[in-house]
Amino acid sequence: MSKSQSVWVSRPLFPEVLASLAQYVDVRTEAKETKRTPEQLHKKLAEVDGAIVGLSDRIDAGVLAGNRRLRAIANLGVGYNNLDLPALTAAGVLATNTPDVLTQTTADYAWALLLAAARRVSSAERWLRAGRWRGGMRFDDWLGVDVHGKTLGIFGMGRIGQAVARRAIGFDMHVIYHNRSRLPEAVEHECRAIWVDKAELLQRSDHLVLVLPYNAQNHHAIGADELAHMKPTAVLVNIARGGIVDDAALAAALREGRLAAAGLDVFEGEPSVHSALRELENAVLSPHIASASADTRRAMAQLAADNMLAALGYGPSAGHPPSLLNPQVLGGRGGET
Ligand code: DGY
Repeated sequence: MSKSQSVWVSRPLFPEVLASLAQYVDVRTEAKETKRTPEQLHKKLAEVDGAIVGLSDRIDAGVLAGNRRLRAIANLGVGYNNLDLPALTAAGVLATNTPDVLTQTTADYAWALLLAAARRVSSAERWLRAGRWRGGMRFDDWLGVDVHGKTLGIFGMGRIGQAVARRAIGFDMHVIYHNRSRLPEAVEHECRAIWVDKAELLQRSDHLVLVLPYNAQNHHAIGADELAHMKPTAVLVNIARGGIVDDAALAAALREGRLAAAGLDVFEGEPSVHSALRELENAVLSPHIASASADTRRAMAQLAADNMLAALGYGPSAGHPPSLLNPQVLGGRGGET
């Protein structure tokens, strides 16, 4: 049966998720993830009613220009700094993201990076695999820094930051956090977390996890100055976004022993990674996979598909996408979806 609306999916997705879309709309898929130019994106979007996109697809006024057909963009991710929300709203295009479903998995991964960086897991494994464990290892080789009992700093205390904090209870840590707005007392109590200003966060953290959204104000929120205020024994973990940390300044601090280690899942200009970081043994690096468990990536993809169908007027939430970022557009449409 021919379908009246079309949705473009900018990267390969789980077949069952595509099938759920295909019940209602004509689905246009891609065989692989590709970095597209604004012109290419403009062309793709001009031919469809909705698009499911990811972090590498920058949707701004330029790519929307002159497009009278597009009605919805569903982002595959909780972070949506790739979407120019005011431009989408001005164009009357609904925009959605994928919150909640990835909170716990992403918090788990912050801990994976923290433990790996503090205890030198990746570097030790590389050494072993290179056949260098031949006996004669000294008792004081491979010394890392402890995690349990230390002070954990969390910069950005939204849902994921809070989930990171709750896990620290099991490690008997003191948790301090900095966030634009202080959490309600009941939440602070439950997370056993104490609000501090940014300067105190930097100075007191034995381990600092970054979970803040990326925007113009947060560009290089951790730069040379901030790094200079951290303990030389500290470990820095970034699961938030590239650009929040000045990667060149971080590499210099790690190389010069002004910071013990870093666990990084996100980078400025990813997928390229600063060459100085790639050379450092005290940096644990991963390719933006904090949400990548089988269950969670499926749930994110399904939520993006559900958002899209609802935005185009189909399914149980027709007209009311579960994670809508610009409800003003619905008002403007007068409930027409
Ligand atoms: C998110 O959901 O924001 C992840 O970082 C993937 O982009």
